[in-house]
Amino acid sequence: MSSDTKRIGVMTSGGDCPGLNAAIRAITRRAVHGHGFEVLGIEDAVAGLAHRQARPLSPELLDIDGYDPMLSTGGTILGSINKAIDAVASEIEDGYQALGLDALIAIGGDGSLAILAEHARSGWNLVGIPKTIDNDVALTDQSIGFDTAVRTVSRAAAQLRTTGVSHDRVMILETMGRGAGHLALAAGIASGADAVLIPEIPWSMEGLMAAIEATRSRRSQAFALVVVAEGADPPAGTAVGVSERSERRHHGGVGEALAIAVEEASGGAIEARATVLGHIQRGGEPSPMDTILATEFGIHAVDLVAEGTFDSMVALHGTRIRPVPLADVVSAGSARVDPHEERAHTARSVGIYLGEDPQ
Ligand code: F6P
Repeated sequence: MSSDTKRIGVMTSGGDCPGLNAAIRAITRRAVHGHGFEVLGIEDAVAGLAHRQARPLSPELLDIDGYDPMLSTGGTILGSINKAIDAVASEIEDGYQALGLDALIAIGGDGSLAILAEHARSGWNLVGIPKTIDNDVALTDQSIGFDTAVRTVSRAAAQLRTTGVSHDRVMILETMGRGAGHLALAAGIASGADAVLIPEIPWSMEGLMAAIEATRSRRSQAFALVVVAEGADPPAGTAVGVSERSERRHHGGVGEALAIAVEEASGGAIEARATVLGHIQRGGEPSPMDTILATEFGIHAVDLVAEGTFDSMVALHGTRIRPVPLADVVSAGSARVDPHEERAHTARSVGIYLGEDPQ
């Protein structure tokens, strides 16, 4: 290899999701075949920089005798972390030079990209790729992993429907999403939910019960499906939502609290059951749309490196991939559901109770 060959690092950071391996595959193919770059896979996000743990990636190596598992395997072959590591900033930042990187492509969510943008001020050439099942990275219409998670939640909801109808129960499905309701809202529409509760829209027990009762009087079966985002407001008077474990905030519990509250509010007339999908939402084979998006993001990220457009993130705008300044993504913070936007409007228009109408 000539001494002017560029060496680019690639890392996955934050919670994993389906499609990360497809992005790594596309980056490696484009970098090696399209630009003659060398690719280093950084292991376990910033920990790999701090401890200089990286391995060369090549299209041939990833192809595994024609099986090409990177396209369809969830998770990330590079590993990932979504908590602070035991290293000072300079150990992480010096890792970039120590590994001889000319540029770094980081596949991360809003939190990871913000942290990496800060490290990049030490002199890194950084390009970001958005990923998260929460779909809350700002300035992109979609992130890698969201489409698959919507499919996973929708399939689970379809299975809850048959058992719920059989037993005349209200079935409550708690989704991930942290402070954003994109996943619950999209899956709720896709699965024909009767109510979707998300962090961005206040809801009331009276409103929810009215929606459940209306559904039950319309149908011969006394069944209703409620999708609730983990970050949605819990029923009044219940102390669930967020706990601090291992120095990280963990959501969870709102679904069960809701099941109890619905039963109580019905005076015992309704039987409710809660299901928490948890990390099942982050696993499995990526959907074709996620595989395509990951591939397109990966190719465009490498092309940005080749043209020297750094401190940027690849973003989906409609059907086009565009670079956006990473600083703008970071300053915009987590993207929330707009209670007036198209998808919330769609949900209301098909009769889903979405909480109190924000007007
Ligand atoms: O941000 C992605 C996400 O899956 C959230 O939806 C969820 O609250 C969180 O990560 C779970 O994180 P952990 O992997 O630390 O349990």
